[in-house]
Amino acid sequence: MTQEAHVTQGPLTTEAGAPVADNQNSETAGVGGPVLVQDQLLLEKLAHFNRERIPERVVHARGAAAYGTFTLTRDVSRWTRAKFLSEVGKQTETFLRFSTVAGNLGSADAVRDPRGFALKFYTEEGNYDLVGNNTPVFFIKDAIKFPDFIHTQKRDPYTGSQEADNVWDFWGLSPESTHQVTWLFGDRGIPASYRHLNGYGSHTYQWNNEAGEVFWVKYHFKTDQGIKNLTTEEAVRLSGVDPDSHQRDLREAIERGDFPSWTVQIQVMPADEAADYRFNPFDLTKVWPHEDYPPIEIGRLELNRNPENVFAEVEQSIFSPAHFVPGIGPSPDKMLQGRLFAYGDAHRYRVGVNADHLPVNRPRATEARTHSRDGSLYDGRHGGAKNYEPNSFGGPFQTDRPLWQPTAGFTAGTGSHEAPVHSEDTDFVQAGDLYRLMSEDERGRLIENLAGFISKVSRDEIAERAIANFRQADGDFGKRLEAAVQALRG
Ligand code: HEM
Repeated sequence: MTQEAHVTQGPLTTEAGAPVADNQNSETAGVGGPVLVQDQLLLEKLAHFNRERIPERVVHARGAAAYGTFTLTRDVSRWTRAKFLSEVGKQTETFLRFSTVAGNLGSADAVRDPRGFALKFYTEEGNYDLVGNNTPVFFIKDAIKFPDFIHTQKRDPYTGSQEADNVWDFWGLSPESTHQVTWLFGDRGIPASYRHLNGYGSHTYQWNNEAGEVFWVKYHFKTDQGIKNLTTEEAVRLSGVDPDSHQRDLREAIERGDFPSWTVQIQVMPADEAADYRFNPFDLTKVWPHEDYPPIEIGRLELNRNPENVFAEVEQSIFSPAHFVPGIGPSPDKMLQGRLFAYGDAHRYRVGVNADHLPVNRPRATEARTHSRDGSLYDGRHGGAKNYEPNSFGGPFQTDRPLWQPTAGFTAGTGSHEAPVHSEDTDFVQAGDLYRLMSEDERGRLIENLAGFISKVSRDEIAERAIANFRQADGDFGKRLEAAVQALRG
């Protein structure tokens, strides 16, 4: 629907619906006199205006979104009993929000930062949210480090700006970040648009089939538009002349009927292979190399409809890694486990306890039937129905069938345990592999991008520690980076 279609007829009114006589001049005690409290229109307008903003997302504040369709192209019922994945050709409505991570709501799109790829499937068994990024891995592997990590990406408490010292101090002291940082400062670190990037579920998730068998799964969304990136120089320029570049590109492509699409693939690991796999399959800083688990094409995602109201549908949209449907569940990935709490909590704070009643967030192919009630802006949807279970007055009732299967194999007692280390796990092995995969040109740009940023830190030991991590990934990588940083620091 176009903006014109929303023009309403008839007189302007107050929020309570009374006609407004004058929307240009406030009411005064005589000509030139002070304004009167009885001008309720003025007070209502000023008061409402003061409350127009809700807290922006603490991360991923800057973003754009569109509705679309997911079509299943392969029978996956041997791995999952999820109904929306039950039949080849089946279509499910979706909503996908792209974002940058560190910038505030009004920041520029064309920056070096991961892109969020938050996808909601409105399935007949409830909404399934896959809240991923355009990178298959992440900087850290335990949720307990996330607030510290994000503090280093955001504004310093004293300077009020992002500081190279904080970023490199944290990364240098968190060697598990080396793989993701190598990725981020390579060519894919600044996508040309939201249409020209891949999406990844990033974590490992559980799929379970009708027979109760468990599989570990990773999701990949490969852009059909092709990968396109910006160089650092192009991005700096574009951020200045067109800070909304990605948001505009997505909206305009959909407006002209040039619907972007992604080919959806999964990697599948039978549950009994997890314990002896060469990498910890639940470690978010690692990929599963394709030669171990080849990607299998299962579907196509197309974006074909713009939201009509950005605040209602994008700013108030909520995505949670804890929104599962029957046949899909979490893995023991320590990052994912932390996220299962963090998002719902953020939504209740940011949008409110009834955020999931809003049109963009509520199930569309089924309805929510809960015994939760009331709270801010409750719309009375349950009428006089009983609000407890068990009851003798009729549903809704529990099903006795969990969405996912129990995960077995944990031996030690409770404690602050590090995630298990598998035979080929180190913090550096896959960062080195990624570096060696790059062409000579790509390596040159990677070194230049990293050196440009590392050279800004104020203390030598922070720079040295950061470089040491890349040296451990690959000797040549470390040597070249050290020389480039030295040349810039003088
Ligand atoms: C333990 C680690 C993490 C924590 C505690 C965390 C927490 C959060 C929070 C609180 C939000 C804001 C939610 C809102 O206000 O609606 C958010 C947004 C987001 N996060 Fe995370 N996050 C973590 C790791 C990750 C990872 C590993 C990924 C990707 C693989 C990711 C992807 C996203 C995306 C895409 C959004 C934006 C969702 C949207 O478009 O509304 N996060 N995160």
